[in-house]
Amino acid sequence: MENTERKKKILSCVQASCTPTLGNYLGAFKNWKNMSEDYDCCYAVADLHAITVRQDPKQFKKQILEMYAILLSIGLDPEQSIVFIQSHVPQHSQLAWLLNCYTQFGEMSRMTQFKDKSKAHADNVNVGLFTYPVLMAADILLYQADFVPVGADQKQHLEIARDIASRFNGIYGNVFTLPEPFIGKEGARVMSLQEPTKKMSKSDPNVKGFISMLDKPETIMKKMRSAVTDSEACVRYADGKDGINNLMSIYSCCTGLSYEQIEKDFAGKGYGDFKTAVGEAVVEELRPVQEKFDEYMKDPKYLMECAQKGAEIARRISQRTLDKVMKKIGFIL
Ligand code: TRP
Repeated sequence: MENTERKKKILSCVQASCTPTLGNYLGAFKNWKNMSEDYDCCYAVADLHAITVRQDPKQFKKQILEMYAILLSIGLDPEQSIVFIQSHVPQHSQLAWLLNCYTQFGEMSRMTQFKDKSKAHADNVNVGLFTYPVLMAADILLYQADFVPVGADQKQHLEIARDIASRFNGIYGNVFTLPEPFIGKEGARVMSLQEPTKKMSKSDPNVKGFISMLDKPETIMKKMRSAVTDSEACVRYADGKDGINNLMSIYSCCTGLSYEQIEKDFAGKGYGDFKTAVGEAVVEELRPVQEKFDEYMKDPKYLMECAQKGAEIARRISQRTLDKVMKKIGFIL
């Protein structure tokens, strides 16, 4: 049967901060690639969001391009999906301003990320940090996205995007699609290798806690070997074995093996053997991504061409929504 229904739309963005971790890869990027087969996908490097904390201009420029290269390296096909850099599409900032005027001070004040970040950067609690979720709402609503794959830390921001959209629709009629969180098949929640009750994070001051997507094989093996485990010396998934559970989840994600199978394969073996196996599986998982990344970074001209093409399409699509919104509000177009 020919499928003439329009595919559902997915949008997601990644901040242009430092190199993403294995957690970002297994928890998000790997799914982004899979989703691009079944949905119309828009993926962007959120560079506008990144300046809510101070960035060094030279370093920032490098990070934006690197993050774009990573998106292509994980296998996103710029012919199939729209892969772009947020600041190349001015419609994001434009819609964000309009939506600011349909967002209440009170509801922004309740955002837990704002509260956390303003504590962490007490010397620079800028208004951008405060209104960051509105820009994120603009990212999503411009493309009329049906689904947004987000981690737990972004759920509240997605809810606010829905609230803003339905408020606007309530006043002016159906303008925005209400976005829903995309719950994929069990996305890996990768924990810190040193404190396995905490999420793996690139801002962990202990670099042994996380594996960067671009870490060299030796580094990955070393970090794996120093991963925190327990004293039971038995590879099995169980309550209270946070370290081993985490390694099992990583191993399962990289190899496709079930927990039962892993337990069988490592019965009678020590944690040393298991850590080596997990390390090797991670190295193999990241190898093709890293190889592509190195290739792309040798050709910044190609990367920029891709980014420009993506932005052109994104500008066209997002302008349609922006025009509609402006007309509804009463602007003269
Ligand atoms: N705020 C998100 C994060 O820090 C990144 C982001 C920006 C985003 N715009 C978005 C995610 C739109 C989903 C949809 O991870």
